[in-house]
Amino acid sequence: MSNATEKSISAGKLVRVTFLPEGRTVEFEFGALPYKLHGKPMSLLDVAENFGVFLDHACGGVCACATCHVLIKAGESGLTAPDDDELDRLEMVADQQLTSRLGCQAVITRPGDYVVEIPKWNRNYVSEGKPLTSTDTK
Ligand code: FES
Repeated sequence: MSNATEKSISAGKLVRVTFLPEGRTVEFEFGALPYKLHGKPMSLLDVAENFGVFLDHACGGVCACATCHVLIKAGESGLTAPDDDELDRLEMVADQQLTSRLGCQAVITRPGDYVVEIPKWNRNYVSEGKPLTSTDTK
């Protein structure tokens, strides 16, 4: 099922992100997504927040918890490279893989197709009905 807007987006500006395992695909024009105040602007978490896709983010998206762990299945070259803080935080995740990223830190840098899997343990967390967001815990 697609959440594509009715407004046509030129192919050169189209960003398409599919969230697995739900298989939900969202589309938007590169550079036109409003910032939702969680994670870096245009991060995978920001995209998820824009379209109501649940991606846990206990720290609010400031690279301090790793609950936003995702696996990049396609589009890795279009994302910013992880910095040292993200790499350090990724060492905390339960099942780190070569494709592991933090959804709040991985920023989409260009139009294209991206496929992101929310790991199993995170999906279980969702099914237990945890809240969508946390308040500022500073
Ligand atoms: S939301 Fe906490 S590290 Fe990404």
